[in-house]
Amino acid sequence: MTKAVSQVEKEDFEPYILVFCCNWCSYAGADLAGVSRFQYPPNVRIIRVMCSGRVDPAFVLRALKNRADGVLISGCHIGDCHYISGNEYTRDRFERLYNIIIKQLGVNEKRVKLEWVSASEGKRFAKVITDFTSEIKELGPLRK
Ligand code: FES
Repeated sequence: MTKAVSQVEKEDFEPYILVFCCNWCSYAGADLAGVSRFQYPPNVRIIRVMCSGRVDPAFVLRALKNRADGVLISGCHIGDCHYISGNEYTRDRFERLYNIIIKQLGVNEKRVKLEWVSASEGKRFAKVITDFTSEIKELGPLRK
């Protein structure tokens, strides 16, 4: 009985997902998805930052603590960052963030993701959002 209720709750669950997009690639990719009318779930709130390197791990932790069920960080592909190496810092920071999330806070590591999306990848942006939303739905709410 309890299991059936839990399954129903999971099906009704609409996750709240925060997406940090760098201005020059990923946000433009999101924009392209919009103008191209590629559909993706409306569960995401996009925050535009000038570079993925601007995303302080504290932002992610605060989002998870306060409301978000999942956080996605998206930036230019490696080698394409408009600030030369901002996304390389992001990648390194993300590994450390992952270690904190997994080892210290006990949050499922699938709730935080890093993806590179270029300005020409509107379709890919829609797919990344769709896939991530499905994964978070499968995990269920972060807070009960
Ligand atoms: Fe896009 Fe740096 S400008 S990741």
